[in-house]
Amino acid sequence: MLESLLQDIRPRQTKRRRGKAILLIRFILQVKLNNLLQIPLSPSTLFYLCGIVKKIIIAVDGFSSCGKSTLARALAAKLGYLYIDTGAMYRAVALYFLRNDVPYKVDERNDKAVAEAIAHVKIEFRDTPNGKATFLNGENVEEEIRQMFVANYVSKVSSISAVRRFLVKQQQVLGADKGVVMDGRDIGTVVFPEAELKLFMTADPKIRAERRLLELKNKGMEMTFEEVIENLSERDRIDSTRADSPLRQAEDAIVIDNSHISPEEQLELAYSYTLQKQASV
Ligand code: DC
Repeated sequence: MLESLLQDIRPRQTKRRRGKAILLIRFILQVKLNNLLQIPLSPSTLFYLCGIVKKIIIAVDGFSSCGKSTLARALAAKLGYLYIDTGAMYRAVALYFLRNDVPYKVDERNDKAVAEAIAHVKIEFRDTPNGKATFLNGENVEEEIRQMFVANYVSKVSSISAVRRFLVKQQQVLGADKGVVMDGRDIGTVVFPEAELKLFMTADPKIRAERRLLELKNKGMEMTFEEVIENLSERDRIDSTRADSPLRQAEDAIVIDNSHISPEEQLELAYSYTLQKQASV
């Protein structure tokens, strides 16, 4: 587990050093420009240039196929933050359980089997030529965890408390340094209840199903609209009604309904909330 966390922390240290160099260059250029234009530097410009903009934790929660990952990934890239897709972590555990016939039903008798199995699961996010990918015990499973046979079981696996405890601990370590955008179902309520910015994503179920169907078709997976909508509503039902950490909107979350806005508009909205929060912490 330590190794998997280091995988993420090392690039962050390099990024931080690069960030400081960029700040210095930005500072010199701005001072020169202000001199040239004979404009005094305002305090807010100075704060910005000196990098006195605090790093925050951004929690993005919401229903399945609401575009959480699209927004969270783009926002993290825009801010130079780390992006963590916690759904991928639950999917990787579900895949491991399916492959190894681990009894994943929520059942007292299976607790021991689940606890034993989970100890053999190592999840990492590594850079690949196709971007960041999820690795399960050293194998790139990014494509496989998105398949329907995993989607159909992941909600059951993610309702097991031992699984949640195991993954929540890792997620808290990954976000401990702040400067992170994390998406999931319980980020603003359980993983980081003190997150500075909490976004709760929602969209019309039919629009969500249409988007998901298109996404699956583009990946060469043939499914009907009815099958997709059934999978989405079943996952929402299990996620919202499970006993441990059910999906719910944190009281201080900002709701974004993206039924009728483009990914670009949604990003701009989230970015403006981030700037407001950064200025107020
Ligand atoms: O975001 P996603 O569809 O990839 O998530 C897969 C499943 O994992 C989803 O059914 C809910 C569960 N999940 C969860 O319970 N808690 C999280 N923080 C993230 C995902």
